[in-house]
Amino acid sequence: MKLLVTGGAGFIGSAVVLDLIARAGVSVVNVDKLTYAANLRSLDAVAHLPNYAFEQADIGDAAAMVDIFERHTPDAVMHLAAESHVDRSIDGPAAFVQTNIVGTSVLLDCAHRYWSGLDEEKRQGFRFLHISTDEVFGDLDADEPAFTEETRYAPSSPDSASKASSDHLVRAWYRTYGFPRPDHQLLEQLRATAFPGKLVPLMIINAISGKPLPVYGDGSNIRDWLYVEDHARALINVVMRGRVGETYMIGGKSECRNIDLVRAICAELEVQAPQKPTGVANYADLITFVTDRPGHDRRYAVDIAKIERELGWAPRDSLQSGLGKTVGWFLDNRQWWEDILNGTYKLERLGLAVGAK
Ligand SMILES: NC(=O)c1ccc[n+]([C@@H]2O[C@H](COP(=O)([O-])OP(=O)(O)OC[C@H]3O[C@@H](n4cnc5c(N)ncnc54)[C@H](O)[C@@H]3O)[C@@H](O)[C@H]2O)c1
Repeated sequence: MKLLVTGGAGFIGSAVVLDLIARAGVSVVNVDKLTYAANLRSLDAVAHLPNYAFEQADIGDAAAMVDIFERHTPDAVMHLAAESHVDRSIDGPAAFVQTNIVGTSVLLDCAHRYWSGLDEEKRQGFRFLHISTDEVFGDLDADEPAFTEETRYAPSSPDSASKASSDHLVRAWYRTYGFPRPDHQLLEQLRATAFPGKLVPLMIINAISGKPLPVYGDGSNIRDWLYVEDHARALINVVMRGRVGETYMIGGKSECRNIDLVRAICAELEVQAPQKPTGVANYADLITFVTDRPGHDRRYAVDIAKIERELGWAPRDSLQSGLGKTVGWFLDNRQWWEDILNGTYKLERLGLAVGAK
């Protein structure tokens, strides 16, 4: 089976690629524009393998996408490429509209044309999996039941509005053209190799650097957490075994207030990195509360009964074990995130000497 993965150099995409490549009889074409959020180093272990190919391209570039479909003739698409950072969507929504809405429509159009030209057997087996987000449903009060596959859309940020739009496009292609999609909603992720600006990496890196740990508002916003390798396994289950036209919620059954998550990171660091930066008595002393994000959703939670029942998937890692592995990874791989923070990685990607102006 050959899968075309968009955004395979990103946080979740790289976990999906690594999992797929390790499976017998599977090959992967990774299509990624390599934005600030990408890091091909996450894929060093597979880059040389014969069942892996990389194409640097923008999903919104129709000519490039048509060419990629023609040359690689995939059996399925896993669409993860997106602008994904909520704070960036507040500062600059245009890129989110461009990639998440326009880019998804171009990708859908190219994939649909390619699919229409396939022979009957290959067309029947073809799948287009779109990775969405729980944020498309807006937020929940503390005592409301978790989001299900039937929850009405009510996005709050430019990021979630653009993801809601891309969901609607994928559904419209299914309803109008019979274009075969199972798609899914998901939640926050834990793991090594998330871009350093996101909550978990930011807290770990700031703590071991002796910098403040900025928590929005009073830290009472609740998120549900899932270790990214569990998530990759869920996505692969959905694309390979999910029913066409269905949506599957994926979550970790691990709701946690942001402040409790940050305290848990500090506690983990006390164990794994007891040698603290000068002047820091306890990592938790670095916690500072900052002005809340505009329109900050209070709580996300998803009900995963359907995927558990139909596909037999359930998370293997708990919040505690996933967090332990994540903290350990950042401690063991300083070079990885330091290169991103000081810009070395981008220079290398451009083929410039390290330290060049
Ligand atoms: N990380 C999370 O917690 C989370 C939560 C909810 C939903 N999601 C969704 O999961 C998917 C993957 O998220 P992630 O955290 O891995 O994102 P990420 O930001 O880490 O990676 C996105 C990848 O897409 C690539 N990309 C961006 N624009 C592109 C374009 N126009 N053409 C081709 N490639 C492009 C980037 O270079 C990057 O490699 C996204 O659709 C995101 O909305 C993620």
